Amino acid sequence: MKKSMGPKTILYPTPVLAVGTYDRDGKPNVMIVAWGGLCCSNPPCVAVSLRKATYSYDNIVERKAFTISIPSQQYAKQADYFGIVSGRNEDKFSSTGLTPVRSDLVDAPYINEFPLILECRVIHTLEIGLHTQFIGEILDIKVDEDKLGEDGAPAIEKINPFFFVPDSRMYYGIGNYLGKAFSIGRELKKKA
Ligand SMILES: Cc1cc2nc3c(=O)[nH]c(=O)nc-3n(C[C@H](O)[C@H](O)[C@H](O)COP(=O)(O)O)c2cc1C
Repeated sequence: MKKSMGPKTILYPTPVLAVGTYDRDGKPNVMIVAWGGLCCSNPPCVAVSLRKATYSYDNIVERKAFTISIPSQQYAKQADYFGIVSGRNEDKFSSTGLTPVRSDLVDAPYINEFPLILECRVIHTLEIGLHTQFIGEILDIKVDEDKLGEDGAPAIEKINPFFFVPDSRMYYGIGNYLGKAFSIGRELKKKA
């Protein structure tokens, strides 16, 4: 028997995305967005949803650009701080000692210490309700070289990201390897 929970924002996994922007004076800022994810393969795009009340919202509207830096688990505390303090009141880079790097492709900074970076230019904006969704075309992905696997692709176990659990407000690390996608289901297919 299933219990109805009513309309709520629960979905697994929910990412922890550090969204980097510049303000009007060129000061780098970063906030955490959990309401986001990939949304198109071609052009490669990612969506992030922000409330207008955030400092980052105006930055994205003005610069039409943002980056996403994916934190590894060792930076969970700094990432959480990015999500509870506004760049209006504090310089989040100087508080954490993390390093903003200007993207050479878009008008936004990323976090040098975080291993995986998406550099995005805004191509669509959708008013949903409390949140506005920005669709960013991913112009480049940058990865620390020591986080690449033998196949040359980013290795999730080296990047060591973590995820947000919306209802209980907790962070969890990655789970176990289960098998190859587009592959382990094949044995259930009726026709070969
Ligand atoms: C785990 C976590 C997830 C969050 N997800 C979102 C989100 O998806 N959208 C949003 O507008 N704010 C989200 N927030 C809140 C913002 O990160 C927070 O309001 C932040 O202080 C805004 O920073 P800014 O004012 O410097 O832009 C989240 C916070 C945390 C801790």
